[in-house]
Amino acid sequence: MAPQKAIAEQFAKKFGINPRVYRAPGRVNLMGEHTDYNEGFVMPSAIGFYCWVAIAGREDRRLEVFSQEFPAGREVDLADSAIQASRSWSDYPVGVAVQLEKAGFRLRGANLLIHGEVPMGAGLSSSASIEVATALALAEESGHAIDREQLALICQRAENDFVGMRSGIMDQFISLHGRAGHALMLDCRTLEFALVSIPESVKLVICNTGVKHQLAGSEYNRRREECEEAVRSLKKALPEIRALRDVSLEQLERNRGLVADVPYKRALHIVTENARVLDSVEALRRDDLQRFGENMAVSHRSLRDLFEVSCYELDLMVELANQREGVYGARMTGGGFGGATINLVDARRAEVFAESMSKAYQEKTGIAAQAYVCDPVDGGSRVE
Ligand code: GLA
Repeated sequence: MAPQKAIAEQFAKKFGINPRVYRAPGRVNLMGEHTDYNEGFVMPSAIGFYCWVAIAGREDRRLEVFSQEFPAGREVDLADSAIQASRSWSDYPVGVAVQLEKAGFRLRGANLLIHGEVPMGAGLSSSASIEVATALALAEESGHAIDREQLALICQRAENDFVGMRSGIMDQFISLHGRAGHALMLDCRTLEFALVSIPESVKLVICNTGVKHQLAGSEYNRRREECEEAVRSLKKALPEIRALRDVSLEQLERNRGLVADVPYKRALHIVTENARVLDSVEALRRDDLQRFGENMAVSHRSLRDLFEVSCYELDLMVELANQREGVYGARMTGGGFGGATINLVDARRAEVFAESMSKAYQEKTGIAAQAYVCDPVDGGSRVE
């Protein structure tokens, strides 16, 4: 049964009323990792795994959220100005409601039933997909037409201020702005973006390592601090800079002595990664898949050696990919410390590649890993 039908039926059974259904996709990032919170460039695509939200309004101002994946639901009173995070899955939808209200969008009460398809812990933005699907549902059911840029920023605030993860804007933005057949080149400072068409001759293949190391959250926030430290140090010579986005490779090298070793390595990754995004966009525009693939390889090494967010399983996955035919490039994608790799693969070989990757990875690690052949999809919306 189609997921929207299944969730609508379950909702009707539970609440005795027919809901409306919304969905928002996860994403994979093709180039530009950890650059978003440095006000730089990223290049994600939305992928055909969705979070589904069935919703119906209520007469009071209570919000009840349930998930098909987790047993415990949560009920909050929207009039309560002191709603707290509960360290559970429900912090995502509840955090979105809190931030919508804080932004001045008064919400009506509602019942929500949520189903997440985006693999969790795979670095494919299951959290952004639940935030965005909830935000679309709550906004429209309360009669607010909020533009997508603002909605993305509200969802990011839910993650930053309510959940407590200092993530950038990439995931929420692409979940709202994705376009079938395209990647988005996003300037995370101005939020200007351009669509870049993905040639039909290639597929995006995602290989999930099946591991998510414990340190992911704390190390993520630490990387942000290290980047901020690099900016503070460089400001002594370059007072005009605001973020690593503003620093050229030449400026970084000239002022190498001002920056401590670790922040320097982080900065070197960011500065070169930003340049790789710009170069990769051009490469894709002229169908130069070879060049794009080379950039992916360099990006992975930079994330591994300079930004230090890779791990054994991700490195292995990339190595296995590089031994196979029809692969233009492979790199880790998302925050790191586990999760998935993104592989740019000749469309004719994609299925065989995916299958042989899962097999080879399982032989080496004993972990049953999934590989998905993906096409970019449109951003979130209501589903008829
Ligand atoms: C996570 C964050 C994003 C981004 C990536 C790394 O997915 O949510 O904002 O920083 O990591 O590129």
